Amino acid sequence: MKRRHLPPVLLFLLFFLSLSFRRCLLLYWTPSPSAAADQLLRRLAAVDVGGDQLLSDAAALLANASISTFPSLGNHHRLLYLRLPFRNPATPAPPRPRAVARLRVPFDGIPSDASLLAAFRASLRSFLLARRRRRGGTVAGVMTELPGLLGRGRRRFPTCAVVGNSGILLGSGRGAQIDAHDLVIRLNNARVAGFAADVGAKTSLSFVNSNILHTCATRSAISVPGCGCHPYGRAVPMAMYVCQPVHLLDALVCNATTTPESPFPLIVTDARLDALCARIAKYYSMRRFMAETGEPASNWTRRHDERYFHYSSGLQAVVMALGVCDEVSVFGFGKVVGAKHHYHTNQKKELDLHDYEAEYQFYRDLQTRPAAVPFLDEAPGFKLPPVKMYW
Ligand SMILES: *[C@@H]1O[C@H](CO)[C@@H](O)[C@H](O)[C@H]1NC(C)=O
Ligand SMILES: *[C@@H]1O[C@H](CO)[C@@H](O)[C@H](O)[C@H]1NC(C)=O
Ligand SMILES: *[C@@H]1O[C@H](CO)[C@@H](O)[C@H](O)[C@H]1NC(C)=O
Repeated sequence: MKRRHLPPVLLFLLFFLSLSFRRCLLLYWTPSPSAAADQLLRRLAAVDVGGDQLLSDAAALLANASISTFPSLGNHHRLLYLRLPFRNPATPAPPRPRAVARLRVPFDGIPSDASLLAAFRASLRSFLLARRRRRGGTVAGVMTELPGLLGRGRRRFPTCAVVGNSGILLGSGRGAQIDAHDLVIRLNNARVAGFAADVGAKTSLSFVNSNILHTCATRSAISVPGCGCHPYGRAVPMAMYVCQPVHLLDALVCNATTTPESPFPLIVTDARLDALCARIAKYYSMRRFMAETGEPASNWTRRHDERYFHYSSGLQAVVMALGVCDEVSVFGFGKVVGAKHHYHTNQKKELDLHDYEAEYQFYRDLQTRPAAVPFLDEAPGFKLPPVKMYW
């Protein structure tokens, strides 16, 4: 058929398809940088301004935090305040304590204010120590140690599924396929009840950021032993990365109220894993920025505030899976026009602090050109497992 015989609608469709094809190319095939550009990107991506902020927040808490609790509501529980001194720069007055966290805790079962503060400081100290230590050496070295950190010794799981929360899962019918994996990682306590046909029902590891634990602890610390922050069953371990050091206090409070029926199996992510994920997210975000704007990587901060820029929980769960699995399948990551952002919520807006499109490029690289993935090649003895993305 000659082109002029094509009906206009078909022509329009072809034109539209070619446009969306180009969009896919743009999205997923930003060119690999040259070796020199790659080295520069790696160097810039290793500068972790948000991580430095985290360290100074933790140091301030370690040096100056105080804890006091007050009986409340007829002595059924106590209100716990964590305070830090703040100085008003406008006045010469001495600094005054200001609450940085407030938690309702059970009247009994929580250690005294002094011992809770001591435990909190011990937690901050090891948090700081691990993060200061990570600065030497290669952070990618953590990849070969991840099975051990998950309590597996050197054994890896044959197959793993990382289940994201994208609305593209709705109607996918992938539930049984997901549940057939040896290790199923879910993110940020997304609900599975009512969605089993599309997202499955099995959970082996619940991966969260510490805001999730904090919200849950604030709501349930007085009423539920171990804070009940485990929607997938109390025995399912939770892996958590710390986005604010004050959340280490929530972890202590939840841990202090555990019972054998309500355990609180919590793994705080290794500092090197956090640093590695921060580098990967920033590397891909800079690469995308350069491809889209033609500007140098050093101009990246015009678009992203370095203090708040952060990898998503999904990215860290995928990197963790790379370290503990022989084969990784990824479900429910990605966007399609018309699909909901989350399958289980009506959240419309994406968070600005993540660069999801850059993270998708990382996943695409993992699947189709693993040799282009930065940093993981710096881990001695580590081999990337095959990765498959399901849409
Ligand atoms: C602790 O408080 C003192 C007095 O306000 C202040 O000088 C010091 O810098 C604080 N320490 C940290 C690590 O923030
Ligand atoms: C959690 O509580 C148990 C006792 O129930 C204790 O042995 C353990 O050290 C606690 N963990 C942390 C991180 O405080
Ligand atoms: C980089 O950003 C600055 C503004 O911060 C701008 O003046 C400059 O033109 C940008 N560089 C390029 C190559 O676009």
